[in-house]
Amino acid sequence: MAFTSSMAVVGAQAGPNYPAPMLAIKNMQDAATLGRDAALEVEAKYFAKAAVTPQASALIGVFLADQGVKKAAGAWEKKSKKEIKQAAVLGAGIMGGGIAYQAAYKGLPIVMKDIRDDALALGMNEAGKLLAKQVEKGRMTPAKMSETLGRIRPTLNYGDFGNVDIIIEAVVENPKVKKVVLAEVEGLVREDTIIASNTSTISISLLAEGLKRPQNFVGMHFFNPVNMMPLVEVIRGKQSSEDAVAATVKLASRMGKTPVVVNDCPGFFVNRVLFPYFAGFHMLMRDGADFQAIDKAMERFGWPMGPAYLMDVVGMDTGVHAAEVMAQGFPDRMRHEWQNATQVLVDHQRFGQKNGKGYYVYAPDKKGKPKKSVDPATYDLIKGVVAERKEFAPEEIVARCMVPMVNEVARCLEEKIVASPQEADMSLLYGVGFPPFRGGACRYVDQTGAANYVAVADKLAPLGRIYEVPQLLRDMAASGKKFFG
Ligand SMILES: NC(=O)c1ccc[n+]([C@@H]2O[C@H](COP(=O)([O-])OP(=O)(O)OC[C@H]3O[C@@H](n4cnc5c(N)ncnc54)[C@H](O)[C@@H]3O)[C@@H](O)[C@H]2O)c1
Repeated sequence: MAFTSSMAVVGAQAGPNYPAPMLAIKNMQDAATLGRDAALEVEAKYFAKAAVTPQASALIGVFLADQGVKKAAGAWEKKSKKEIKQAAVLGAGIMGGGIAYQAAYKGLPIVMKDIRDDALALGMNEAGKLLAKQVEKGRMTPAKMSETLGRIRPTLNYGDFGNVDIIIEAVVENPKVKKVVLAEVEGLVREDTIIASNTSTISISLLAEGLKRPQNFVGMHFFNPVNMMPLVEVIRGKQSSEDAVAATVKLASRMGKTPVVVNDCPGFFVNRVLFPYFAGFHMLMRDGADFQAIDKAMERFGWPMGPAYLMDVVGMDTGVHAAEVMAQGFPDRMRHEWQNATQVLVDHQRFGQKNGKGYYVYAPDKKGKPKKSVDPATYDLIKGVVAERKEFAPEEIVARCMVPMVNEVARCLEEKIVASPQEADMSLLYGVGFPPFRGGACRYVDQTGAANYVAVADKLAPLGRIYEVPQLLRDMAASGKKFFG
């Protein structure tokens, strides 16, 4: 009885993709009535079974890759002699507020500057809520909470910017606005102050164009929600100095994050590979797949949420805007002439969770968290841009979404946007929740077999250039070489 109920609980928590916890319970059940030696034999049998699953090898790979990524960050940190005592963030929105909270939480004083008083109040309020939760859970004392909040100084003017060691710009995602703000702030800070942009897509080298000291300028791309997501992409623009990159890596680690240094291009690494995945999703819908079926197939594959749900969480207006930046950057494969369902929904003021309506609709649950439900109106709105409903096998859905992402990962490796398969995989795990039991996009290719992967991708090639297999993967298919070992 005890075993049956624990199997139900553990099975529900672990899900079908993590076999080891269930094997452990079955092991205990089989061994419970045996003597020591026989029980050890049973344990050896179950251990051997659990140790050689693809999940086990992927998770061991994740452990090693995590160490590799931290070691690479450590090497950068050693190069920096700069001490960061005072930071500033420009913009008190979703990201600026989160960055201010995270810095203060890790003991770093930070000035938070906005042009709107209400935005500052909202940013402080959000930080207060996050800290209150820590107090509620007994992880922080009320005194520590007020000390932490005291490290954030909200302001509408540039008063103290002469004392700031690093500025993180997190204003709206508009290159014109960003360039004006960056040039303005550069004129007010010390010559050695580092300026970092939290842009999610705009090329760092492009943003550096109007600056007098582009060597002090880098990208520092946090993920949303900042307090939860472990990854920070540190982006090296064409003119960014080694010092500026090293100091930014050091700051990201000090803020409790895992930094990965990447080279510059639109979308950097994570968004550059995420948007082809969304393109695969939009093409499936265009061709008649139901977005709920797509979400279901991708969640089965292991993603924490399917692409329609993810688009709602990211913000559909943000998604459309970022897709446009990516299309400008990579027109050969990321520009398309047809209108996609997300664009239509945005035209109808459906921005996702942020205004309660996207692919799904949202209402607060008992705990005040947004709970999604299906809205028939979504289907009416998008019917002009999607074909008549057609069933797609889950494997086809997975292939049509995953191939564009994996191909782009390989292109980023070819172009040295990301330095290694380890860093690529960990960035996807820590930045967008790639299923850990699959180990990341590169390990997924290894486990699928490059030749099998290429055969699947080649069948999809007529769909468009995002499905065209890059040379790196073709070579691996021909030689049998793997990304790992
Ligand atoms: N939201 C995300 O999921 C996410 C994730 C990663 C990166 N980003 C990037 O972070 C940046 C900010 O995004 P967000 O979602 O926090 O936007 P947001 O709209 O929530 O906040 C932007 C804030 O900037 C303020 N602002 C505008 N002009 C300003 C100026 N001149 N000086 C100071 N403040 C100014 C606005 O008043 C607003 O409070 C963007 O570049 C975005 O691409 C966003």
